Amino acid sequence: MQIVKYPHPTLRHRSKPLRRVDGELKRMVRQMFELMYEHQGIGLAANQVDLPYRLFIINLTADSAAADEEHVFINPVIVRRQGVVEAREGCLSFPEIYVPVRRPERILLNAFTLDGREVSYRLEGLFARAAQHEADHLDGVLLIDRLSPTALMAIREDLQALESQFRRERDRGFIPEDRQIAARLAELEGART
Ligand code: CO
Repeated sequence: MQIVKYPHPTLRHRSKPLRRVDGELKRMVRQMFELMYEHQGIGLAANQVDLPYRLFIINLTADSAAADEEHVFINPVIVRRQGVVEAREGCLSFPEIYVPVRRPERILLNAFTLDGREVSYRLEGLFARAAQHEADHLDGVLLIDRLSPTALMAIREDLQALESQFRRERDRGFIPEDRQIAARLAELEGART
């Protein structure tokens, strides 16, 4: 398991709700947490590890020792949004890029836990921001889609650098062709959604 970077096509995949949680999925979630800590992240969506599942994880402390701060959100739905606030945001799929993003300030989010309980989260501050960022991933929406034209212009060269890097890695055979990626996602989806 590894983190895919922009412009990997799986980041544009809109995932369908999960219908089944089994031991294998729980192991994948564990691996996602470990990968997230390795990269000092506070949130990670399944698309970012090349999986078509409607789930994301958050630990705002980015600290593997703070296991009680770990949250898993399965089939999340944002049911209410209030206020607007702008703050700098990053994404493990856009390394070293930090940009101002405007988002609702407070949200009400419903989701299932790994053991199948339905939970309602009333979130604000960094937690609300992270959850909205990760929920966007599940719809194939990226932080660059939420930027003002000025903010987007400011990171144009960084994005072009990531695009060139992606092409180089694909040319060397490290990244499959689009149709192979799509076929793999469809197969995985067929089993769990
Ligand atoms: Co992200």
